[in-house]
Amino acid sequence: MKSVRIIYFSPTGTTKKVVETIAGSLRSEKVDVLDLTPTRGRRYGRLTSDVDLTILGVPVYTGRVPFQVVEALQQMQGPGTPAAIVVVYGNRAYEDALLELNDIVSRIGFLPIAAAAFVGEHSFSTAATPIAVGRPDNEDLEQAASFGRTLRERLEAAGPLGNGQFLKVPGNYPYRERAQHVSSPETVTELCTKCGACEAACPEEAIAVTEDGVATDRESCLLCCACVRACPTGARRVNDVELLTIARELSSTCHERRSPEFFMK
Ligand SMILES: Cc1cc2nc3c(=O)[nH]c(=O)nc-3n(C[C@H](O)[C@H](O)[C@H](O)COP(=O)(O)O)c2cc1C
Repeated sequence: MKSVRIIYFSPTGTTKKVVETIAGSLRSEKVDVLDLTPTRGRRYGRLTSDVDLTILGVPVYTGRVPFQVVEALQQMQGPGTPAAIVVVYGNRAYEDALLELNDIVSRIGFLPIAAAAFVGEHSFSTAATPIAVGRPDNEDLEQAASFGRTLRERLEAAGPLGNGQFLKVPGNYPYRERAQHVSSPETVTELCTKCGACEAACPEEAIAVTEDGVATDRESCLLCCACVRACPTGARRVNDVELLTIARELSSTCHERRSPEFFMK
């Protein structure tokens, strides 16, 4: 394997960790990285065809591919080369996200040959409402590495285009509705040092830290909670009653460990 490309969107880093682990186990001479997380990283036209495999990973948001990722991917033209698609979800369910991702990458010109669903610590997980804490853990990452090794063997055995069949993944049509909730984490003024970590962490550039305090554009907020994770003083918090209720429910109903799932052509 000479060259691999990884493409991911990963506000709180779990998807990145899984995709990087898969890529690492391919023992490729070169790894190109397209990080779609910051808005400035999301403008790509035609991708070059000089890679043996593209690994594309996204988190699951309300059972779907995050809307911003759909928009970014639709601006790309895949080079007709094989892709492995990966979704990472917070131990609730991934519903139609893998099917949607498979459809998008096929439409823009990749050849999906394999897919996987991994679990990552839920974006809404906190000390008070823990959900899939520490995932992906060593067990998950070992499975990610094993998936990568299998991909490598398959590609070497079947040649670059796989066996010519379509990849089948779980999911239903029509895709489930995207749940929408306009809100954002808030800043506890007394705890905030105006260090700017929240502003730097926000993928949507929705946060502005000034001498006067922290302003958040709620319309642009994805609720990804990257700002909450990045805040060194615990000043950035979700305070929205509806979201806190969801976090409490997920924490009490989604504690049974779900394992990674794999799908191959
Ligand atoms: C707005 C939003 C919606 C989410 N919806 C789901 C969901 O439907 N099912 C689930 O299991 N996890 C869900 N999650 C959790 C993320 O999929 C999970 O935390 C993932 O690991 C985040 O990836 P990242 O660390 O790469 O950002 C959601 C997270 C957010 C922010």
